[in-house]
Amino acid sequence: MKIVHVASELFPYVKTGGLADAVGALAGELARQGHQVSVFLPGYRAAVEHADAAGAERILRLKVELGQDYLAGDVRVFSPQPNLRIHLICREEFFDRRGAYGNGERDFEDNADRFIFFCKAVVDTLRLGDFGADIVHAHDWQAALVPLLLREAERRHGLTLALKTVFTVHNIAYQGLFPARVFGRTNLPDELNQMDGLEYYSQVNLLKGGILFSDRVTTVSPRYAREIQTPEFGCGLDGVVQTRAEDLVGLLNGIDTGVWNPATDPLLPARYSAGDLRGKAKCRAELLRRCGLEAGPGVPLFGVVARLTAQKGIDSILANREFFLAHDVRLIVLGTGDRRLEEELRELVREQPRKVFLAAALDEGMSHLIEAGCDFFLMPSAFEPCGLNQMYSQVYGTVPVVTRVGGLADTVTDADQDPAAGTGLVCEPNPASLLDALHRALALFSDAPRHAAVRERGMRRDFSWRTAVAAYERLYQDAL
Ligand code: ADP
Ligand code: GLC
Repeated sequence: MKIVHVASELFPYVKTGGLADAVGALAGELARQGHQVSVFLPGYRAAVEHADAAGAERILRLKVELGQDYLAGDVRVFSPQPNLRIHLICREEFFDRRGAYGNGERDFEDNADRFIFFCKAVVDTLRLGDFGADIVHAHDWQAALVPLLLREAERRHGLTLALKTVFTVHNIAYQGLFPARVFGRTNLPDELNQMDGLEYYSQVNLLKGGILFSDRVTTVSPRYAREIQTPEFGCGLDGVVQTRAEDLVGLLNGIDTGVWNPATDPLLPARYSAGDLRGKAKCRAELLRRCGLEAGPGVPLFGVVARLTAQKGIDSILANREFFLAHDVRLIVLGTGDRRLEEELRELVREQPRKVFLAAALDEGMSHLIEAGCDFFLMPSAFEPCGLNQMYSQVYGTVPVVTRVGGLADTVTDADQDPAAGTGLVCEPNPASLLDALHRALALFSDAPRHAAVRERGMRRDFSWRTAVAAYERLYQDAL
């Protein structure tokens, strides 16, 4: 099949979260299966640097209609592996900046223009470049206009640009919600600015467009597909999602085992496997050294790697500060984001510098070292569409402590409830239930044979993309 992916992040070029990993691994694996895959990505500074180094060529110059304006852009292409072409939509004014969505403090003010421009440029490229796509698969709000714009372009030009469109919701909490006047920038007919179109309580909701106007809608775990049809998890779009229930499916993400495998991971000081864990002890020692902490082998290490946002349940961890102060444990956090959460974590470090460490940075190497060096990985998310770190943790032999939501519930089995199959500890999304799980973690840690069994079951689980890719292939075939 000729498959086009459209996304605002792609590992290893631009990443702020799991979206980059998911799209990168899916596209790469589809290409390995022999499909012809193109990925469209905004030409962010970091991506353009990669592209230049890879000898990218410019294939098109565009004049993109944006409201009353025509804005110039160009399209550069490079191919990092057979059957895979990366297309960068470049316009320096929009994308030659340090952050992808904001400057760290707040979102860029021209995000509506940036991503509407991106979507329009993608559709123009599909038309002018004569792609003949079988499937156009867009991800999240930044790409959500693509299915609708394609439909409009097909109508306007009497062409078929894509046989079918697929839209994936990686996180319904981010919707691309903008003031009503932004609708004018889409140049779409006014009748699409209504309740059954992009209009949402007198604003414009781009994610809603992706959900309504694609042939198939997917999300990244089966449980999240059910959750987003409820008011508790639908972030105000549950009614909209319900209208697509028949075309909605939750396909669990995989993990990129080329990047996340403790037996081959080049970012670790030592490698290891379920059969030989000596390397894991070296990773632990190196992690402690890098954090300036001391802990004997009898002291459990808890790790966190996360965007610091309300989603990730950091408040639940902070609400349990007494637990970390009262017990001989260590807590190592890697994450940036919300200023308040960062500050409260710093406060905890100031209180307990010998027990708690915070790295407020984006650090790929450190994220691997935490997964490898810790005994437990904390992920008490309030909601979690899929989540990747709980899967990384299991294959790295680091027992995940997670909440019973979304992809976390779909990928972790509680070791107390199911002693024969358990690979982690599962609690409810509230501080009291997390505290209970933390105590259960201490109990597990002090029972060496049981801990080893839980860890080994996790390490032997297969989370590779093969399963997920086969499911996407079936979905595409079925849609076609
Ligand atoms: P989300 O996409 O909601 O952030 P996921 O669990 O799907 O959550 O993916 C998060 C990804 O981002 C993981 O690969 C994780 O290791 C990575 N990550 C998050 N914060 C950092 C950080 N500060 N440094 C390096 N990697 C990070
Ligand atoms: C989003 C979700 C996360 C998911 C990732 C990749 O960022 O928050 O749960 O794993 O997308 O699909």
